Amino acid sequence: MLALRPLLPLLLLTTADLALSALLNVTAVGAHEGRSRFECWELSAPFVSSSQPGIAGTQTTSLGDVANITYNVVPAGFESPFHTAPVNQWVIVLTGLAILTLPDNSSYAASALAASGELGLLFAADTPDVSDLGHGGYFPGAGETVFVQIPTRGGGVPEHRVVSDQGPCGPQQFVQLRAWATES
Ligand SMILES: *[C@@H]1O[C@H](CO)[C@@H](O)[C@H](O)[C@H]1NC(C)=O
Ligand SMILES: *[C@@H]1O[C@H](CO)[C@@H](O)[C@H](O)[C@H]1NC(C)=O
Ligand SMILES: *[C@@H]1O[C@H](CO)[C@@H](O)[C@H](O)[C@H]1NC(C)=O
Repeated sequence: MLALRPLLPLLLLTTADLALSALLNVTAVGAHEGRSRFECWELSAPFVSSSQPGIAGTQTTSLGDVANITYNVVPAGFESPFHTAPVNQWVIVLTGLAILTLPDNSSYAASALAASGELGLLFAADTPDVSDLGHGGYFPGAGETVFVQIPTRGGGVPEHRVVSDQGPCGPQQFVQLRAWATES
């Protein structure tokens, strides 16, 4: 009887509960041996069913503690020279288009597209202590690109597993979000 007890919660799970265990994937600018690179991270904090009034029963996950937020507007055609991330921070593109690049690396996986939508959430972790040159970027959209930057509290990095260190997250890393779009 005692041995069965740990199994009981599992028996009570419905298929809807199992669907809730998905994890959010985000493209990160990481660094390895002093060079920035694009990675795909699977965040460790699970999606759960929200209990917040107004969105109760929908999917939510915590991105962790943050310090402050800035709102940035970049004109069409702007080019960003290579630079390191000033601190560990979230970057969220609200509108427009940014292409991030890496120095001395023209491989396809060495550019990352950031546009509004699922591809608009990035984590920049190539701070000066881990990356020499950082990353660059350009803004090829027809209009302005607006993005917010949100440093984490105390420079923390969200708990994660590196899914790929060969490039940014791809379409298969957002499938669950799309599946939820039509679930009610
Ligand atoms: C926001 O927080 C970061 C990290 O703690 C800090 O470096 C930066 O100065 C803060 N910016 C503002 C505008 O408070
Ligand atoms: C080029 O970028 C890719 C993707 O980020 C990375 O896997 C690779 O190691 C980089 N190559 C060099 C020479 O930095
Ligand atoms: C994250 O990526 C994995 C595949 O690597 C996928 O199974 C999972 O559904 C993705 N998460 C979301 C929220 O789309």
